Amino acid sequence: MALICTLSALMTAAASGQAPSAAPPDDKAVEKRVNALLDQMTLEEKIGQLSQLFVFSSSSQVDEEVAKGQLGSLLFVTDPASINRLQRIAVEKSRLHIPLIFGFDVIHGFRTIFPVPIAMAASWDPSMVTGAQTIAAKEASAVGINWSFAPMLDIARDPRWGRIVEGAGEDPWLGSAMAAAQVRGFQGEHIGSPDHVLACMKHFAGYGAAEGGRDYDASNIPEALLQNVYLRPFHAAVEAGVGSAMSAYMDLNDVPATGNRWLLHDVLREDWRFQGFVVSDANAVRSLAAHGFAKDQPDAAARALDAGVDMEMAIGSTAYSQNLAAAVSSGRITVQQIEAADRAILGMKVRLGLFEHPYVDEARAARVLATPEHRTAARLAAERSAVLLRNEGRLLPLGKGAYRKIAVVGPLADSPMDTLGSWAFQEDIAETVTVLAGLRNKVGSQAQIGFAPGVEIGRKFPSPFDQLSRAKSRAPWTPEQAKDELKKAVDLAGASDLTILVLGETQLMSGEAASRESLALPGNQEQLLEAVAATGKPVALVLLNGRPLDIRWASQHIPAILEAWYPGTQGGNAIANLLFGDAVPGGKLPVTWPRNADQVPIYYAHNTTQSPESQGRRYWDEESTPLYPFGYGLSYSTFSFSNLQVSQAELKIGQTVEVTAEVENTGASTADEVAQIYIHQRYGSASRPVRELKGFERITLAAHEKKTVRFSLGCNELSYWSAAKKAWVEEPARFDVWVGADSTASLRGSFTITQ
Ligand code: BGC
Repeated sequence: MALICTLSALMTAAASGQAPSAAPPDDKAVEKRVNALLDQMTLEEKIGQLSQLFVFSSSSQVDEEVAKGQLGSLLFVTDPASINRLQRIAVEKSRLHIPLIFGFDVIHGFRTIFPVPIAMAASWDPSMVTGAQTIAAKEASAVGINWSFAPMLDIARDPRWGRIVEGAGEDPWLGSAMAAAQVRGFQGEHIGSPDHVLACMKHFAGYGAAEGGRDYDASNIPEALLQNVYLRPFHAAVEAGVGSAMSAYMDLNDVPATGNRWLLHDVLREDWRFQGFVVSDANAVRSLAAHGFAKDQPDAAARALDAGVDMEMAIGSTAYSQNLAAAVSSGRITVQQIEAADRAILGMKVRLGLFEHPYVDEARAARVLATPEHRTAARLAAERSAVLLRNEGRLLPLGKGAYRKIAVVGPLADSPMDTLGSWAFQEDIAETVTVLAGLRNKVGSQAQIGFAPGVEIGRKFPSPFDQLSRAKSRAPWTPEQAKDELKKAVDLAGASDLTILVLGETQLMSGEAASRESLALPGNQEQLLEAVAATGKPVALVLLNGRPLDIRWASQHIPAILEAWYPGTQGGNAIANLLFGDAVPGGKLPVTWPRNADQVPIYYAHNTTQSPESQGRRYWDEESTPLYPFGYGLSYSTFSFSNLQVSQAELKIGQTVEVTAEVENTGASTADEVAQIYIHQRYGSASRPVRELKGFERITLAAHEKKTVRFSLGCNELSYWSAAKKAWVEEPARFDVWVGADSTASLRGSFTITQ
C-alpha cells in the first residue's frame, strides 16, 4: 500500500498546493555528531551501546559496566535520584561521556494511571488517547525516563490471550488510529520535544495471534492477513514517526520475530523506511536458541543483529556483550553492521537531547506527579472508555436520592490494584479510587452504602508479576468463611434497594503471562451474581476486566451491565458519575464479544464463504454470532442514522469518494455517538471481509440535534494486499458501504470502481 497510496497522496498534496510534511531539519547535524563519536569508539564501546539491562535495585556490576561504556540503556529504574546517579556515572566516568537512555513500561500512565489500552481504544477518541499519553510522558520524563515501551500494537482476536488488554483490540483501522494517537502523545511534535519520551511500538509482529491464545506460543499468520491486519497499526505508527520498535517473543511462521530479517529489515526498514532503532523483547535474543532456531548463544547474537535487532534487552547480561566481539573477529558479522545499530541508537540519543540535558530535576518530579489536572484527565478518560452493554427498563442512570440503601457487592469493588489493571508500578495506591469509594464520594449522606465482597478470586497458577505488584496478599478464606461471606453479600443485597455488583478479573488475571482457557467469570462470581439477582432487587453489574468474559446469563437476567475495564486511578469516581448520569456512556467495543471461549476466534471482519445465509448457525449447539458485535455500545440517549449519500456512483482507481450520513440524537439528553463507516468489496482477485471499518468519528449531540458526518474513501481505504497477486492492489469492483452505530449497521449505499 505504501507505494500505491504514496503516489496518490503526492498528487493530492500537489493539487492543494501543500508540500508533504517536512522531515525534522537536523538530520545532517545528528549524523555528523554520531560519526564523530563512532570515530572515537573502540569495538567494545560500540558493542556496549547495543546492550540494555533491567535494574531492579542498585548493583555494582551495573555501575562498573556503565563506567566502562559497556551499556547503552537501562530499564526499570524509576526514581529520579537513582537515574541521576547512574547517568552521572555514564556521563562523567565513561571515556566518551555517552549518556544512557532510560526505558520503562509506561503503558497507560505513570503515577496517574489511565484506563488500560483496550479501554482507551473503546473510547474511539484518538485525541483523548493522545492527551492521556501526553500526561503519561510528562510524568515519566519528570522522573528521568526517556523512553516508553509503548504503544503495544498487537491485533488480538482471541480474548483468551492475556495481553489483549494492552492493545486496541481486533481491528486494523481502529488499531492504526490508536497507534498514531499514542505515538503523538508520547513523542509530542517531534522526538526530543520537552516533557515527552521516545515511543516504542511493540511487539513486532504477530504476537497477538499466539496459538490457542497461549502467551508466547507460536503465531502462524498467512502473509495476506499479516499485511492487511496485523502489520497495519505498526505501519501507522511508523508513519506517525515512532522512534523505536520492540521485536516480539514468538515464532512467526517458523521464524522467530527476533531473528526475522524479512520482518525487521525488508518490511520495517526497506518497505516502510523506518528510521528508528529496534530493541529485542526481554531475553528474546538469548531465547532464539530455546526456539530451536539458533544453534547456541553466539549464533543467537549474530542472527539477531543480522536480522535487524539493534539493541538487546536482557536480565543480567546480554548475548551481544558476550558474543559480538568474537563474531567480528571470526568474520561472522562486520563492524559496519555493529556501527549501523550504533548509528540508530546514538542518533536517537542525540535527537532526545540527552547529550545536552542528561539529568533530571529531582525537585520538579514530585510536583509534576502531583498535578491535579492529571487526575481529572484520568477520570474523564475512564468515563469516555466505559461501554454500556445493557440497560433494560432504563435502570441507568440511577436516580439521585431514589435508593436509600445501596449494596455494593463483589471481590473487586474495593480493591485498588484491580481498579488499575496490569502494568501499573508507580501508582499511588492511597490515591486510587475504587468503585466503593467513588460511590461513597458520589452519594454522600443521601444513601446508606453497605459493602460485601461475597467471594474471593485468584489465579490457579501464580503470575510472574506477583513480586512486582503491590496488591496485598492474605490467607485464603476457609470453606466456612467462604459460605458466610457469600451469605453476607446476598443478605446485604436482599436488605438493600439496589445492588451494584462489581465483578470481573483481578489485576494479574489479564496482561502478560495471563492467558486463560476459559472466559467464565473466575471463581464463584457467577454463583454470586445469580444469588444476588434472585433477591429480586434491581441490580447493575459493573465489569472490571481486560477481556470479554462469558456473561451470557447476566446478559439475559441483569438489567444493566457497564463494561468499565480497568479504569485507573480515578476509576471509582468515573464509574459513579456514569451510574448516576453525571457522565453518559459513549464507548464502543473494540472487540467482538463472544458468547464463550468455544466460539473463539470470532471477529467481525471475516470473509463471506459458502452459505452466508447460515453464518449465524454454523454450530448446532450454540449460535455462531457473538453476544455483542464489534463497535457496539449503548447510551442513555438514542440515535438514528439516515440519508446516506455517496458522492459518485462510479469512480476510477485512485479517485476518492465522499460518503455522508445524518446522525440524530433522538433522545432527551446530550450524549455521544460514534459514527462508523464500513465497506465491503464484492469481488476481486481475492475474497474480502464481509465488512471492514474504514473511518469513525465520536460526536456529541444535544437532545434532538442532527449532524452530518463525512468520510472520504480513497486509495488508503480501498486498497488491500491481495493473496493472489502478492501485492497491494486497488481493483475495479462494486463496493457496499454502511454508516451506523456498530458493525451491524444497516444504512447502506454502494459505488463502483472502474479501471
Ligand atoms: C514484555 C514487554 C515489556 C518488557 C519490559 C517483556 O516481558 O513482553 O512488553 O516491554 O518485558 O518490561
